[in-house]
Amino acid sequence: YVIGIDLGTSAVKVLLVNQLGDVCQEIKKAYPLIQEKSGYSEQDPEQWVQKTAEALSELVEQFEGNPQDIEGISYSGQMHGLVLMDQEQKLLRNAILWNDTRTTEQCQRIYEVVGRDKLLSITKNPALEGFTLPKLLWVQENEPEIFKQVAHFMLPKDYVRYRMTGKIHSEYSDAAGTLLLDVGEKVWSKEMCERFTINPSICPPLLESHDSVGSITLEFAKETGLDQATTVFAGGADNACGAIGAGILSDGKTLCSIGTSGVILSYEEDKDRNFEGRVHFFNHGKENAFYTMGVTLAAGHSLEWFRNVFAENEPFDELLTDIDHIPIGSNGLLYTPYLVGERTPYADSTIRASFIGMDSSHTKTDFARAILEGITFSLNESIHLFRESGKTIDTIISIGGGAKNDTWLQMQADIFDANIIKLSSEQGPGMGAAMLAGYGCGWFESLEQCADVFLKSATSYTPIKENVEKYHALFEIYKQVYVQTKALNE
Ligand code: XUL
Repeated sequence: YVIGIDLGTSAVKVLLVNQLGDVCQEIKKAYPLIQEKSGYSEQDPEQWVQKTAEALSELVEQFEGNPQDIEGISYSGQMHGLVLMDQEQKLLRNAILWNDTRTTEQCQRIYEVVGRDKLLSITKNPALEGFTLPKLLWVQENEPEIFKQVAHFMLPKDYVRYRMTGKIHSEYSDAAGTLLLDVGEKVWSKEMCERFTINPSICPPLLESHDSVGSITLEFAKETGLDQATTVFAGGADNACGAIGAGILSDGKTLCSIGTSGVILSYEEDKDRNFEGRVHFFNHGKENAFYTMGVTLAAGHSLEWFRNVFAENEPFDELLTDIDHIPIGSNGLLYTPYLVGERTPYADSTIRASFIGMDSSHTKTDFARAILEGITFSLNESIHLFRESGKTIDTIISIGGGAKNDTWLQMQADIFDANIIKLSSEQGPGMGAAMLAGYGCGWFESLEQCADVFLKSATSYTPIKENVEKYHALFEIYKQVYVQTKALNE
């Protein structure tokens, strides 16, 4: 057996997985967000450690086998969060999380100091509030007493791993989200550190995601009942682990993940492919590979908003029951999902959503279908960016809320003009973490071989030519709505 630990933003989830990829146990423990001011989002790293230990203790207690049969542990972590420790390896403050937005000024400073082109050439990503360097600069500017004492900065799951093993490390997939990594060369960027007077010694040594860091401490073994010989592997960023857990491990494979927000994530081997910062470009959890990622902020959120405001909290499957009776184009109704602004391709926090083409005969179901079409059009913008750069996108694994409805899955095939595959069971990033541990333990020769055993596809949806053409015409209109409505909310 192996354990995958998924350190999320609202909870930690631990999965016990056997050599066939079956999930034998699953335990989840929640922890709170600390939001002292508007835009602030922090967490106490001590809580992550405590809740992980509690979840692991329960898992071992309920496990019918011998703890020695649990061979390996690995991690998936919420990205970008800043954890700071002093020389004695004591925490200096709460972690500042990926969804904290206090750092707009620091992002500006990054562009002023290094310039956008230089930043993109080193880190391959734009300066976004969520990333780690702006948070470190915020502490440098606003909490100089704390900044002076910083001996190590770490990312969330790296801190939990440190507490379980006593060893300080990070790995490429999470380091890629800091804006301090030279993503192509896989080294901490001396230039970025110098430009911002950051002592490079605070950056943790880097590993591959499947590398072993050794075993757990005697103390942690006693606390949880785990065997002390259990091998601990570095693990990866949640999006990298999500990709591994859906088998996005070779060229052409792409993931469509629809939750509150929606993500299109595509496998990449060419470190020189240039998206000019319009999509995220991070190191993968697979050695010497990358992934690119575009984000639709209000994907599932659009549907939830509509249901809560107009459909009396009707369950989603009821709201969507009859959408297959409505023709493509929702009887002339078109939706753009910019309820909270949009990330890809516009990076525009001021744009707002719209319904256009409303007719007095439209029903709630027309609106529901228009929302699904609008979300999928928005995700298609990311796919377009990828294709424009020369990428082939022929197979898309669909997971999350978007994979729960047959009509929506066919709609994805038709709008994306690609084959859509639905997995028979999906466990998200926690499964990716377990796969890194299984591969690290030597169960498989490669992550791809592990994916062949662990991941089973259930259904596939192929694009229907006539539908592809209809959606293509609508997508052209959809794209104009952004341009035409931008001035409304500026
Ligand atoms: C990625 C991002 C989020 C976090 C969530 O850039 O900010 O997906 O990884 O944990």
